[in-house]
Amino acid sequence: ADLPLVLGIETSCDETGVGIVRGQTLLANAVASSVEEHARFGGVVPEVASRAHLEAMTPTVERALDQAGVRFADIDAVAVTAGPGLAGALLVGVAAAKAYAVGLGVPLYGVNHLAAHVAVDQLEHGPLPKPSIALLVSGGHSSLLLVPDVAKDVISLGSTVDDAAGEAFDKVARVLGLPFPGGPHIDRAAAQGSGAAVAFPRGKYDDGTLDFSFSGLKTAVARWVEAKERAGETVPVADVAASFQEAVVDVLTRKALQACRKYDVQDLLIGGGVAANSRLRALAQERCDAAGVRLRVPRPGLCTDNGAMIAALGSELVAAGIGPSALDIPADSSLPI
Ligand code: KG4
Ligand code: ZN
Repeated sequence: ADLPLVLGIETSCDETGVGIVRGQTLLANAVASSVEEHARFGGVVPEVASRAHLEAMTPTVERALDQAGVRFADIDAVAVTAGPGLAGALLVGVAAAKAYAVGLGVPLYGVNHLAAHVAVDQLEHGPLPKPSIALLVSGGHSSLLLVPDVAKDVISLGSTVDDAAGEAFDKVARVLGLPFPGGPHIDRAAAQGSGAAVAFPRGKYDDGTLDFSFSGLKTAVARWVEAKERAGETVPVADVAASFQEAVVDVLTRKALQACRKYDVQDLLIGGGVAANSRLRALAQERCDAAGVRLRVPRPGLCTDNGAMIAALGSELVAAGIGPSALDIPADSSLPI
């Protein structure tokens, strides 16, 4: 028999994502983003995001069905992000998923957004080695995870005590006058600068934990830039971007490899929007090579929020015989890993 066809719906932040997979084969990944509506506010506005999800849901589902070349009636299961994320945004996806599941008479799988950022890699690189270490870095999260089995068992080893890595990128971009979301702009500006130009502080560098801290770094960059401006000097944007970026990726890769060593794991996966960062990818590869650790990073389009990641984890749950969820599952904005 054919492997089940799973529709995945993601609405935890500002991307309306709909993905379709069969088993762990990617068939469609349609994304509608409201990011431009938030840009002038310098951050995601929850009410604006919820409304945008509502408007984008049906067309995005139709686009995904088109891409996959399948019909509604072919869908065997519906997976949806149950949390964590923005409450109102999650609610739109969960309500839509329930409606599709009931309408089609198929099971519903509520999945964890963070575990889905890990599971998505299987669509590109095949089965995840068990166990793996995962570094999850996005606008909302920065965590190190021990992953014995992405469907059954994901253990948090550490996380940020203040800002998420992506949040730090976005805030520093703002200080440098770059548009929101700032990560890709810092990445591009940094390519023209030197990561060694300014020695910015690395939070929790040698504290023996697997936690992160980025708010001190963000403040240090803001102070440094203000001092330049006050002195009437031009701010060397490329050098500041590169030096800030170097501080972030130095800590992220250092702690990720510490986690691999501590738990004697030879496979590291990096996921989440910040995993699209070119310097993070390069430094992680360099340090993994030196440590004899295999590195997996999904292509950028699978790192940022999308529906394929939700379909991938849903499909994994179907295969593992876990679930389905009750039809009254809530959207849980602070769902733990
Ligand atoms: O995973 P994601 O799409 O949404 C969340 O779940 O947060 O991540 C978005 C974050 C934003 O903070 C964005 O600035 C950052 O990922 N980002 C990057 C890059 N591309 C996206 N950060 C650094 N370098 C990039 N190339
Ligand atoms: Zn995410």
